Amino acid sequence: ASQATIIQRRPDFSTISSEDVSYFKKILGERGVVQDEETLDAVNTDWMRKYKGTSKLMLQPRSAEEVSQILKYCNSRCLAVVPQGGNTGLVGGSVPAFDEVIVSTSHMNKIISFDKVSGILVCEAGCILENLIAFLDNQGFVMPLDLGAKGSCQIGGNVSTNAGGLRLLRYGSLHGSILGLEVVLANGTVLDMLGTLRKDNTGYDLKHLFIGSEGSLGIVTKVSILTPPKLSSVNVCFLACTDYASCLKLLLDAKRKLGEILSAFEFLDHDAMDLVLKHLEGVRNPFPSSMHNFYVLIETTGSSESYDREKLDAFLLHSMENGLISDGVVAQDITQASSCWHIREGIPEALMKAGGVYKYDLSIPVEKMYDLVEEMRVRLDASAKVVAYGHLGDGNLHLNISTPQYDDNILSQIEPFVYEWTSKHKGSISAEHGLGLMKANKIHYSKSPETVQLMASIKKLLDPNGILNPYKVLPPSLFSKAEI
Ligand code: FAD
Ligand code: MLT
Ligand code: ZN
Repeated sequence: ASQATIIQRRPDFSTISSEDVSYFKKILGERGVVQDEETLDAVNTDWMRKYKGTSKLMLQPRSAEEVSQILKYCNSRCLAVVPQGGNTGLVGGSVPAFDEVIVSTSHMNKIISFDKVSGILVCEAGCILENLIAFLDNQGFVMPLDLGAKGSCQIGGNVSTNAGGLRLLRYGSLHGSILGLEVVLANGTVLDMLGTLRKDNTGYDLKHLFIGSEGSLGIVTKVSILTPPKLSSVNVCFLACTDYASCLKLLLDAKRKLGEILSAFEFLDHDAMDLVLKHLEGVRNPFPSSMHNFYVLIETTGSSESYDREKLDAFLLHSMENGLISDGVVAQDITQASSCWHIREGIPEALMKAGGVYKYDLSIPVEKMYDLVEEMRVRLDASAKVVAYGHLGDGNLHLNISTPQYDDNILSQIEPFVYEWTSKHKGSISAEHGLGLMKANKIHYSKSPETVQLMASIKKLLDPNGILNPYKVLPPSLFSKAEI
C-alpha cells in the first residue's frame, strides 16, 4: 500500500480543472502537457515501486521562464506541485503523494558552457548524469559525483537530493562542488545565483539552501559545477576480509598509505554479495572457490601509472602480511574494473529483484556501524535477509532488509528500532538519500526541535502556500491549514 494512505491530502489544495490544462497548453504547447495514462502511470510510480501517486498531469517545461509561468500559476491557484528529475530517488520524494502536478525537468537538458581552464560546467537541470560524465570525459575532465543511477538521474535531482555516491570520499559533497544555481521559487521568481566563482563571500550563500532541499523550496533549473581534471591512472581492486574489524583497519591504512590517490572505498557484506550473484545476470564471483564475510572495493585515481601501482602494491602487500585481507584481485583492465564496480553498483537492482526491500541510509560512526546490522539480524527471523553495504569511507551504511514481500509485521520489528538506535549513537537517519515522504515524520531523530522549527519557517517564507513538494521532508503536521 502507498505510504500516502497514512497522511491526509491537504484540503486547501485545488484539483486540476480543464481551464488549468488549457492554460498550461497555452504556455507550453501540446507537447509540454502530458495526460496519457501509460506515461502518467510511470511518473506516478517511484523507482522502488513502493510509492504511487494519482497525478493526472505532467508538465515538461523547456526553460526557466516556462517553469516560472507554471509555478506562478500553480501558486495563484493553490495547485500542489512535485518537481521530478530522473525519478530514481529512494525515499518517495519524486512522485506525488496524491494528485500533485508533476513538473519534469527532462526537456531542459542542454549544456550551456564549459570552461576548459577552470573545469567549470554550466548546464540545465535535466541533463542526465551519465551524459555529463561522457561529455566531460571527451574534454579530459570528470564529474565530481558518480552513482549507480547515473543512466537516469539528472543533475538537478542530484543537487536537490545532495546526492553523495561513490566518489564523495575523494571530491567531497555537492555543497563544495556546486558553484552556482538558478532556481525558480514557488511564486515564479527566478533566482539567478548561477555564479562560476570559487570564492564569493557577498552575503548569505543561499544556493546551499536548495542543495538537498528535495524540491521543497524551489525548482532548480540551471547548475554550475566545478569538475576536476581526468587523471590517467585508475586502479580498482576487490578484496575479501574475514571480519568487520579488518575492514576498518583496512580503511585507516588505505587513507594513510594510499593518501591522495584514494578515490573510493566501498564495502559489502556476504549477504549483499550473495544477492548480487543470485539476481544479476552476467556477474562473475571474483572468488569462485570460497565465500567471504566482507568485501571491500578500493579505487585509486592518480597521475602516474608506475607510482600509483607501486603505492597500491605496497599497500596490498602490507595488508596481506597483517592478515587484513584474506583474498583479493586487482583489475588488469577497464573491463575487469567495471566488473568489480558492477557488483557494488548492482546491489540496489538485485534487492529489487529479490522482492520487498526496507531501505535505510544511515550515517553512523564507523566503529559502531556493523553492530546495528548484527542486532537487526537477531531481531528478525531468517525469512528476512539483512543486507549491508555502503560508502564505508564516508561512514555511510546502507542497511537493507530484503523480504519475499512487504509485511507490516516485519516493518514493526525494524522501525522505530532502527531510527532510535541511530539517534542514540548520534548518527543521521538520512546520510544521502534525503527524507522524502518516507522520513518526513522522522526528522526529529536527527534534528533538534528548534532546528526543525527554523526549517519550517524558511519553508513558509519561500513557499507560503506550501505548494512545492508537500508532505515531504518536514512533518506535514507543521503545515496544516491552521498553522499557515
Ligand atoms: P528524482 O528522483 O526525480 O527526485 C529526487 C528529489 O529531488 C525529489 O524530491 C524531487 O522532487 C527533487 N527534484 C528533482 N529534480 C529537481 C529539480 N530540478 N529542482 C528541485 N527539486 C528537484 N543517491 C546517493 O546519494 N548516492 C548513491 O550512491 C545513490 N545511488 C543510487 C543508485 C540507484 C540504483 C538508485 C536507483 C538511486 C541511487 N541514489 C543514490 C538515489 C539518488 O537520490 C538519486 O539517484 C538521484 O540523486 C536523484 O536524481 P533524480 O534526477 O532521479 O531525482
Ligand atoms: C548505493 O550506494 O548503492 C545507493 O545509495 C543506493 C542504495 O542505497 O541502495
Ligand atoms: Zn549510496
